[in-house]
Amino acid sequence: MFKSDLFAGQRVLVTGGGTGLGFAMADQLAALGAELHLCGRRLPVLDEAAARLRAAHGGMVATHAVDIRDAAAVDAMVESIWQAHGPLDGLVNNAAGNFISRTEDLSPNGFHAISDIVFRGTFYTTQAVGKRWIRDGLPGAVLSIVVTWVWTGSPFVVPSAMSKAGVDAMTKSLAVEWGRHGIRCNAIAPGVIPTEGAGARLRPTDARQEEMSGQNPTGRLGRPQDIGNLAAFLLARENSWINGQTIALDGGDWLANGAYFKQYLDWGDAEWQAARERILARNAADRAARTVGAPDADAGQAPPAPQA
Ligand code: COA
Repeated sequence: MFKSDLFAGQRVLVTGGGTGLGFAMADQLAALGAELHLCGRRLPVLDEAAARLRAAHGGMVATHAVDIRDAAAVDAMVESIWQAHGPLDGLVNNAAGNFISRTEDLSPNGFHAISDIVFRGTFYTTQAVGKRWIRDGLPGAVLSIVVTWVWTGSPFVVPSAMSKAGVDAMTKSLAVEWGRHGIRCNAIAPGVIPTEGAGARLRPTDARQEEMSGQNPTGRLGRPQDIGNLAAFLLARENSWINGQTIALDGGDWLANGAYFKQYLDWGDAEWQAARERILARNAADRAARTVGAPDADAGQAPPAPQA
């Protein structure tokens, strides 16, 4: 589908690039010759992902243990990439957090756990990269991952729906403001592309994969390659006139079925309690594996492990 050297000599930062959709996009970009920079909160997970990419495609893959909720850490990472490697050509805003919950059950902390990553963190990263492109007179491409619920809204994931809608608005706004600098901003709104992290938090007690496939107009769920392909297409310099677009990548699912999670409208207290317990256990396991945290966000925990 693409020239094998489409991204040769180009440098791309993928936030949350160690797992899931971020890894899928990094994999496609590395296959097409890009130098990759992966950031996330679990250095061992990033390093393992980088080793897999190097083994599969060769090329340079660097890892950065950074929590995108920490604006100063984001800026320091982007500066270090510029200094040690050179300017970025592309940024993929993929890092996110989410879990299902009845909205009336959310604490302020629960809201912030999601919005601080998706809404604020995406801005910090985009601004840190964009201001350097403008300062240096360089073109660039920003690709942000939202969800089809920027159009439909979605019950039981309100902090995510609100935050992703903000990222969608950022994409359109910056497309106009930064277009004159040669900086393009686009977004992908994926439907269900099963990944382990999302499954554990959005369908913790009920996978329903067969039913979801059956409802999709194409008869299947998304595959990692689907998002890898669209990400490469949108980031490619050759597409210098695609700007300010949010493109659904869902086999037509939202047109056919609208918002997700309507099945949870039938849940009672017992189902929500079971889901919450599984989600909290999964969050705790992930938190234990983190090697960095946002300032104050992880107060009371052990200090970060030294980085390799
Ligand atoms: N229902 C209601 N509240 C919940 C909840 C649930 N299922 N799960 C967590 N919360 C609340 C907690 O109670 C806590 O609030 P409190 O301090 O007032 O009690 C707050 O959310 C933070 O919970 P915690 O378990 O400490 O989570 P965390 O901050 O370690 O991580 C995420 C939460 C979302 C940020 C975490 O899951 C994450 O980083 N995920 C990244 C990957 C991901 O989500 N992938 C899927 C994307 S689709």
